[in-house]
Amino acid sequence: MTEKATLNIADKTVEFPVLKGTLGPDVFDIRKLYSDTDTFTFDPGFTSTAACESGLTFIDGDKGILLHRGYPIDQLASKSNYVEVCHLLLRGELPTAAQYEEFERSITMHTMLHQQFDRFFEGFRRDAHPMAIMVGAVGALSAFYHDSLDIHDPVQRNISAIRLIAKMPTIAARAYKYHMGQPFISPRNELNYAENFLRMCFAVPAEDYVVNPVLAKAMDRIFILHADHEQNASTSTVRLAGSSGANPFACIAAGIACLWGPSHGGANEEALNMLKEIGTPDKIPEFIAGVKDKRYKLMGFGHRVYKNYDPRAKVMQESAHEVLAATGRENDPLFQVAKELEKVALNDEYFIERKLFPNVDFYSGITLSAMGFPTTMFTVLFALARTVGWISQWQEMMEDPSQKIGRPRQLYTGPTERDYVPMSKRG
Ligand code: SDX
Repeated sequence: MTEKATLNIADKTVEFPVLKGTLGPDVFDIRKLYSDTDTFTFDPGFTSTAACESGLTFIDGDKGILLHRGYPIDQLASKSNYVEVCHLLLRGELPTAAQYEEFERSITMHTMLHQQFDRFFEGFRRDAHPMAIMVGAVGALSAFYHDSLDIHDPVQRNISAIRLIAKMPTIAARAYKYHMGQPFISPRNELNYAENFLRMCFAVPAEDYVVNPVLAKAMDRIFILHADHEQNASTSTVRLAGSSGANPFACIAAGIACLWGPSHGGANEEALNMLKEIGTPDKIPEFIAGVKDKRYKLMGFGHRVYKNYDPRAKVMQESAHEVLAATGRENDPLFQVAKELEKVALNDEYFIERKLFPNVDFYSGITLSAMGFPTTMFTVLFALARTVGWISQWQEMMEDPSQKIGRPRQLYTGPTERDYVPMSKRG
């Protein structure tokens, strides 16, 4: 017997089925609300709205829990690798050895870009923000793959997913190399996903490049931490774009554009800039006072869903330790400022009562900076890692037989109908 929710509105009483998931809050199914009551719900920012059914990622914001297909993020970060997490998100299960080998090879064999594609970068100024390049370049991928744009063909949907996951590191590395004025480095099939990316970013033709295994492992773990995160702003953008039937490359480009915002993926760049602005631990009290006066936000803190410690932030802090040690920066002053800032904030009533805790972006900037990336590349790395989440969510939506074009409504508060006034009669 399905539980019902009853709504009394004007002279009507209507009932809505209550749907239950495997975890998390129940939902009222209000799809018939407008037809039954001639009213809309009102939920700007969708803080109380489930926009879809999904089995990919579960977040419990109060308990600080993050599961990908049921597996806790801290276990995946310590026991798995990014390519295996990609298989888990895309296919629904951890792969067998044979499945892993086949999946990894399919990605490896699609890491190269069409030779013409490299000319895209020439159109940008060298000082273009790499995210501007990513938005343009990824959207343009659809111009090269006419054989895989039929979104109703599961085979073509799969090859588009593999191409996107495989080519994002190559495009991201090229955006970095173009910014640096250095020659592009081609992928190497004998390297794993993270090793390949680091080599494409930091190798130069003048000498051999040996990947530091500690940095490669940290890079792979950072990719895992950013892989997917339920229906966040950029994922919702990808879903809404996909609901119109747009091709997957265009949808991912839309997601990259949304991620760029400082309240979302752009926060890792802003968080490091904030730490540089503070400079030394003795400046923290003055900065905290400015936050309380609402003059600025504590970047890398707070979250729309987590009202507890973001489980990814804990793992990211451990990665920061490892990378700083591996790069001889154990006493990195910014890391000292970050740890002191976290300690002060977590003991300050202003942040406690607002349930503001470090999120995934708080420590990522320090780690990426120690690895040699400029702050402008931080959100590019976030987009690279999140591509598997976006395309898995897109794929899940495309496989949903009830899927239809997304079309929110509004509460209209503009002028009521009025007649046109000729220019000569205006005030
Ligand atoms: C990501 O959605 C996702 O899952 C995103 C993400 C993912 O993996 O996809 O997790 C990635 O985007 C992480 C978030 C990165 N953004 C930042 O670190 C930027 C700084 N954070 C804030 O801008 C903010 O916390 C948001 C945007 C993340 C959340 O904003 P909300 O939901 O509006 O915050 P809230 O309603 O919980 O705020 C409650 C109060 C407010 O103060 P009052 O009006 O009650 O006095 O807390 C304040 C806010 O002004 N507040 C902050 C703050 N975040 C919220 N004050 C200072 N510093 C902050 N960071």
